Amino acid sequence: MKTGHPIIAPSILSADFARLGEEVRAVDAAGADWIHVDVMDGHFVPNLTIGPDVVKALRPHTKKVMDVHLMIAPVDPYIDAFVGAGADIVTVHQEAGPHIHRSLQHVRSHGIKAGVSLNPGTPAAALDHLYDLVDVILVMSVNPGFGGQSFIDSQLFKIETIAERIAALGLDIALEVDGGINTTTAPRVVAAGATALVAGSATFKGGPDHYAQNIAALRGSPS
Ligand code: DX5
Ligand code: ZN
Repeated sequence: MKTGHPIIAPSILSADFARLGEEVRAVDAAGADWIHVDVMDGHFVPNLTIGPDVVKALRPHTKKVMDVHLMIAPVDPYIDAFVGAGADIVTVHQEAGPHIHRSLQHVRSHGIKAGVSLNPGTPAAALDHLYDLVDVILVMSVNPGFGGQSFIDSQLFKIETIAERIAALGLDIALEVDGGINTTTAPRVVAAGATALVAGSATFKGGPDHYAQNIAALRGSPS
């Protein structure tokens, strides 16, 4: 999944929820590679967002990769519903339950891409026995729950560690970073080895007329 420039995955958490289909079409047209969907349950994280019906309703609005980030516990009972709704990637948190290995096997059994996410306090070593089961590793660079938070610098070393491990194993795994990504932090995480960037506030700031320019700036290429 490596490209010359990072994959840009706008988080629709920062979109106008009253016009979600339109917002997805707008970031798609503005050059988004993936559409990042943040699912929160008010239990694993202190916020509530959307469920599988919204993913299903958005599916006809884009052909881009629907990158579904599940911040819910338990997660296993809901995986089938998100796959059925049209997710291309389903990412589950390492911290969401005692059976991350089983959850990843479950996602992969549907023939879609499986992702594992680590909270800022979880060490890279938590991935040691999971590399062969994942297509995406999502490093949280804020504590999950809300958009608009500041990037946590200590995650850069974790990104480097994981990038080295992926290279050493010769695996095709996207290394995605989520939280506080803007034009200052994007080049730093890419230098550390990130290949995919989630950006909520930095994509949607200024409204639809700015999406293309915002995405190009994050990608590090002229609009
Ligand atoms: C946080 C979510 C992120 C969030 C990113 O829990 O997983 O995807 O929307 O928002 P920004 O880019 O504004 O930090
Ligand atoms: Zn996210």
